[in-house]
Amino acid sequence: MRILAISGSLRAVSSNTALLRAAALLAPPGMEISLYEGLGDLPHFNPDLEEAELPAMLALRAAIAAADGLLFSVPEYAHGMPGSLKNALDWLVSGPEFVYKPVALLNAAPRATHAQAALRETVTTMSGRLVPEACIDVPLLGRGMDEHVIAADPDLSAAIRAALETFRKGIDELGRSDLRL
Ligand SMILES: Cc1cc2nc3c(=O)[nH]c(=O)nc-3n(C[C@H](O)[C@H](O)[C@H](O)COP(=O)(O)O)c2cc1C
Repeated sequence: MRILAISGSLRAVSSNTALLRAAALLAPPGMEISLYEGLGDLPHFNPDLEEAELPAMLALRAAIAAADGLLFSVPEYAHGMPGSLKNALDWLVSGPEFVYKPVALLNAAPRATHAQAALRETVTTMSGRLVPEACIDVPLLGRGMDEHVIAADPDLSAAIRAALETFRKGIDELGRSDLRL
């Protein structure tokens, strides 16, 4: 099972990126989590360029298409999701890659409810399938923890492991319900 992890932060020492890197370290057997690192390379979305086959856009679409599920961790900026992340999602709106893709959200700053709500709204509008039981708060704001420290913390690692296991089961279940249709 291949999971694409998408951080909404471009900061070098981002807590959201550290959380996703920790998730990669803690992935259950059979699940491989890779980090999407092209967010900052995407041009501004322009519908006129959708057929232009821009390399950064093609790479994003290929990465989404190859994933069995998407794992987001996203900071809140001015009560919204970061523009760079919304820009990436806008590039995916009219393609088939995102549709019906299982999605889980990790929230590194539990106070940041607006960005989570906005991301949920956009993901479901784009026909992504949220696995709500796999969406958890992981309080990291202001703690300066890197992925190794997060993964070594008994409470944080147990919560992340449980969320990933729940996500794995949710993806399996969605796959089985697709077969029944
Ligand atoms: C421009 C800007 C706007 C922000 N707006 C909010 C906000 O509206 N609500 C909030 O809870 N935090 C806000 N923050 C704080 C960030 O969400 C917080 O620092 C976050 O953990 C950064 O994530 P990162 O470590 O992954 O970069 C803002 C930070 C910046 C730089």
